[in-house]
Amino acid sequence: MPPWTKNETILIFVDAKSVAEAFGYTDEELSSVPEGAHMGLSCGNPVATATIKEAILRVNQKGETVVDLGSGGGIDVFLAAQKVGPSGKAIGLDMSEDMIALARKNAAKKGLKPPHVAFVQAYLTEPLPIESNSVDCIISNCVINLLPQEGKAFALKEVHRILKPGGRVVLNDIVAKKPLPENIKNDMASYVGCISGAIVIDEYKMLLQDAGLGNLLFVDTKSDLGVYYQSSEDGGALGTPGCCTPAPPGTKAGKPDYDVNEWVASYQIYALKEDGPAEIPSTALLRWWDAYPVVKSSPPSMTAEEVASLIRSSATDFAVIDVRRNDHAGGHVRGSHNVHAQTFYDELPEVYQKFKDVPKVIFYCQSSNGRGPRCAGWYQDYLDSQGNKTSSAFVLKGGIKNWLSTFEGQEDLIDKD
Ligand SMILES: C[S@@+](CC[C@H](N)C(=O)[O-])C[C@H]1O[C@@H](n2cnc3c(N)ncnc32)[C@H](O)[C@@H]1O
Repeated sequence: MPPWTKNETILIFVDAKSVAEAFGYTDEELSSVPEGAHMGLSCGNPVATATIKEAILRVNQKGETVVDLGSGGGIDVFLAAQKVGPSGKAIGLDMSEDMIALARKNAAKKGLKPPHVAFVQAYLTEPLPIESNSVDCIISNCVINLLPQEGKAFALKEVHRILKPGGRVVLNDIVAKKPLPENIKNDMASYVGCISGAIVIDEYKMLLQDAGLGNLLFVDTKSDLGVYYQSSEDGGALGTPGCCTPAPPGTKAGKPDYDVNEWVASYQIYALKEDGPAEIPSTALLRWWDAYPVVKSSPPSMTAEEVASLIRSSATDFAVIDVRRNDHAGGHVRGSHNVHAQTFYDELPEVYQKFKDVPKVIFYCQSSNGRGPRCAGWYQDYLDSQGNKTSSAFVLKGGIKNWLSTFEGQEDLIDKD
């Protein structure tokens, strides 16, 4: 099973600090990111050479938007976030749910939240969940080599699509010094060590050019790729050294039985998207909720009539939560509490404190088929995680649209504020 297949477990056995230092991270950088963000999976330091700009340096503009392809524990996203400043955005994409969960946990340690810092689960071999023409700089650290050949071509075309005109690419990657023979391509240690998928410079250039990228520059960092194996000569106590994701369960990759530096090298690869007119979207993420965990529960619905009778009774065992955003025109459910959908997940601990003793917490949005059920689901998941059986989430069926048309003119149910 190749490491790029779904649902692999994260097992890292290399000495993360030695690898990170060997590939160009300074002590200062390493100590500025959350613990656990550098996992010894890198082959360079793309942020150091990406000239990422902060809002402060760009009069009347926001900080840049940076996307990291294959973000792992998040090290480069955290470094990029420092550079773009609070008004900029640093977004990490990774196919591994475990890596995304780890990176989000790391972000939480530093209080970093979407939209400033976001980690989104995504396959680089599928359309990226990012708007076209929305990204200033794309970085990637030791990931493109892991993609199958057609996946590399697809991912680089996506890179071109999501970059703003004039946007730039800074990749750190393992490049083959000469075509790799079959025995190296098919060897488990090569594959775990980010070697078997490495391609020669001419091939890499062709893929970048075919994707529409130009001004290509390849710089050999002259790093010693043997560093991945120094800390675990015999394959490590647990069995698998290497820069990448682990060997398949039950296999032992060990150290390659050839000189890795003879066959591959670590490169910095720079490319630009041509400049030109384009409509620049205001956000980069296609769906803001991708930056948060997928909802597990599915809270039941309550009809408008059921909620109306609760409001008209003297019951105190319920609360109605309005998760609409800018579409308040026309009125809302009388007595409802306002929350903002896009910050709701991060505010769950406070929401919980407020409603944890309220048996029925009823969420709604415009038609209750988007933000309302999503926030209700997150609230229910939070209740479940706390073992709370007192409070439960519900969704107001039909949302405010149905509410307004059902109860038009009934002021005890509709608030026009
Ligand atoms: C060698 S690690 C590098 C991690 C990170 N860039 C760093 O420097 O610490 C490769 C990462 O790429 C991710 N990855 C590999 N193939 C991928 C794919 N097809 N789509 C998205 N992520 C992928 C893995 O899950 C892993 O987190």
